[in-house]
Amino acid sequence: MFKENGFEVIRNAVSEDACVIMSHEFRMIRKCESIWSGKSDQEYFQKGDEQVELSYAMYGLPFSEALTIRLTSLVENVVGEKLHPCYSYARAYYTGATMSAHIDRPSCQYSVTLCLDWDRTDWPIGIKDYAGNDHLIQLDPGDLIIYNGSELTHWRDEYAGNEQLQCFLHYVVQDGPFDEMKYDTRPYMGTAPDLKNQDLIYRLNEKHRVDWMNRNDQVLEDLYGTKNEG
Ligand SMILES: [Fe+2]
Repeated sequence: MFKENGFEVIRNAVSEDACVIMSHEFRMIRKCESIWSGKSDQEYFQKGDEQVELSYAMYGLPFSEALTIRLTSLVENVVGEKLHPCYSYARAYYTGATMSAHIDRPSCQYSVTLCLDWDRTDWPIGIKDYAGNDHLIQLDPGDLIIYNGSELTHWRDEYAGNEQLQCFLHYVVQDGPFDEMKYDTRPYMGTAPDLKNQDLIYRLNEKHRVDWMNRNDQVLEDLYGTKNEG
């Protein structure tokens, strides 16, 4: 499935207990940051980021970094390549959130999206396979999708529920064109994003953009995303 389409779904890949524990950790950290911000939860929880306005997102939390390391061999078996873990991201989405169609930057060469928690409102991720066919895939807590995020356009339409938690795990191929993006150019997984090598990231982003545009000259440039969030 992965070789033909560029993605594969694995149901119940992560246990219910693990998802509940990670969801608690996400919400505790969000609450702690809200207290330190001096703002109300209502205001602070929906601060958004560059990619999704109606959301709350955090880079490289300990639980999601550890999960990225833990699932490396699973992802390697699906994609058929040896991989470096790069970085992780976790996000809460709120009513009305959308994610416009995009592809990912080089440190998201292969990505995992895992649903951690939901309010039982379906919210499928859209993905266009190698042949150009659109798929809408519902992920319940514990389900994940592994996809070639640097090649396949993906998106989410408007969210109708109250809150859904997801985390994103990113990998690059060892000795591949983006090998240097190992650990997202940080000294190790779990280290702060301000330890990234921004000059190297800029150079590889540009290489990726040019390569990708050359292979996809029919695709509008405005579909290309360079956001950090994957
Ligand atoms: Fe993405």
